[in-house]
Parts: sequence; structure tokens; C-alpha cells
Amino acid sequence: MRLEVSDLHVHYGRIHALRGVSLAVGNSEIVAVLGANGAGKSSLLRAIMGLAPVSAGRVALDGVDITHWPPHRRVRNGLSLVPEGRRIIMSLTVHENLLMGAFARHDAHTIKPEIDAIYDRFSNLSARRHMSASVLSGGEQQMLAIARGLLANPQLMMLDEPSLGLSPRLTAEVFALIRELNRRRGLAILLIEQNTHQALDLAARAHVLELGRKVMEGEPAQLRTDPALRDAYLGRSASI
Ligand SMILES: Nc1ncnc2c1ncn2[C@@H]1O[C@H](COP(=O)(O)OP(=O)(O)OP(=O)(O)O)[C@@H](O)[C@H]1O
Ligand SMILES: [Mg+2]
Repeated sequence: MRLEVSDLHVHYGRIHALRGVSLAVGNSEIVAVLGANGAGKSSLLRAIMGLAPVSAGRVALDGVDITHWPPHRRVRNGLSLVPEGRRIIMSLTVHENLLMGAFARHDAHTIKPEIDAIYDRFSNLSARRHMSASVLSGGEQQMLAIARGLLANPQLMMLDEPSLGLSPRLTAEVFALIRELNRRRGLAILLIEQNTHQALDLAARAHVLELGRKVMEGEPAQLRTDPALRDAYLGRSASI
């Protein structure tokens, strides 16, 4: 599946948050979006998902214009978003949160084995499956959010700062999971990260947003040597 975003604009009233961004994510590709706070990264993912007000431009999946599709139709066609801040429903159990991820699917009989596989992988979630999601630690909540995103059975998963608030160890675990999903399942990934080094380790290509515009794009090796990016996001050690 190929996602193509062309000249996308997002307006929140008078705030022009995204100012003509274009990018593509190919089949089984990992693409990173980097940028400072307020650059428009979450707005970009939310617009691709149909959750932010697009004022101009186009979003296409395999050449089909989906710019005005409702979010659930995008989910049914292979897009999934793990939003910023996890958005776990604390009043539901872990298991109920997982089931919500599968809401748009019609193949009910294949969902149970997938949930079992998720419990096999995430033993902490399994042990707490009938407890309120509010008991989960930050890292467990992030795992639950990713697992819920996977239950939509996506072909392209968008992750909005999956390592936010996690310890280095859990961050490494989340990145290992992303890499494995990509390699084993061929899942395409559009990843937002403030953790620039690790995102560049994973991605085949990266885009840098600044004030709603794309200011740089390229392969990680290229971006790592770019003096402007190095100063802004990577710190001096990046050159070593
Ligand atoms: N619902 C909204 N209503 C009004 N303004 C918004 C809304 N959502 C985002 N914005 C504004 O749009 C701009 C881009 O926000 P966005 O959340 O896309 O940035 P971001 O790159 O994800 O930042 P961060 O790294 O802090 O998550 C910001 O100036 C923000 O204040
Ligand atoms: Mg954001």
C-alpha cells in the first residue's frame, strides 16, 4: 500500500498549522517525521487519518483519493493511528481497550487468535487483562496503545511519539517492536519522534517540519551530516 500526501494544508480557525506538506510512504517502508514542538507533526498524522481539518491538498491510498473519507473508512482500508499521549480509555479494562482496536473489522473469528498472540508477546498486559487500564504503568500503556493499533490489522501504522515519557529501556523495546513489525509483517510505518537518533536508525527516509512546512527531506545518512539538522535536533555527538 502506498500513501501519498500532496500539498496538504490544515487550518484550525485562523491558525494555519500545516502549510503545504507533501510526502509518500511506500509499501513496507518506514518514514520518520521530525520537528520541534508545534511544527505540525501531529496535525499531519491526524489529517491523514481524517481527524484534523484539511483546508487544501490531497491524501491518497494506492492512488485513490481519500481526503474526504471519514476516519473509520480509512481504518477499514488499512490505516491506523497510535495517537500522541496514548489515549487509553481508563474506565475500560485492558482487554476492552484492545477490543476497541478491532472495531472496524468484519472478520471476528480471526480477532481472538490475534489478541492471544498479543498477550503472548506482552505478558504484562496479559496478567492485567481484566483490570482497569488505569493501573498500567506508562510503558504498559504505550504497549497497549500500539497493540490496539495493531488490532485494526493495518497495512500502514502511524505512530505519534511512541517513546514519549518512556525510560531508555522501554524506548528501546518500543523501537525493537516497530522494527520487528516492519520486518516480519511488512507493516509500513509513518513515525513521529523527538528521539531523532533512534528514528533515523529505523527509517529509510525522514522529513523535517518547521512551522507547518517541510524544510528538509532525505535519507538518514544525508540528514545526519546536515549541519542545520545537527544543530537543531541532533546535538554535537551526531557527527561521531
Ligand atoms: N485543535 C487545535 N486547535 C487550534 N490549534 C491547534 C489545534 N491542534 C493543534 N493546534 C496548533 O497547531 C500547531 C501545530 O500543532 P501540532 O500538534 O500539529 O504540533 P506538533 O508538531 O505535533 O507538536 P508537539 O511536538 O508539541 O506534539 C500548534 O501551533 C498548535 O497550537
Ligand atoms: Mg504532536
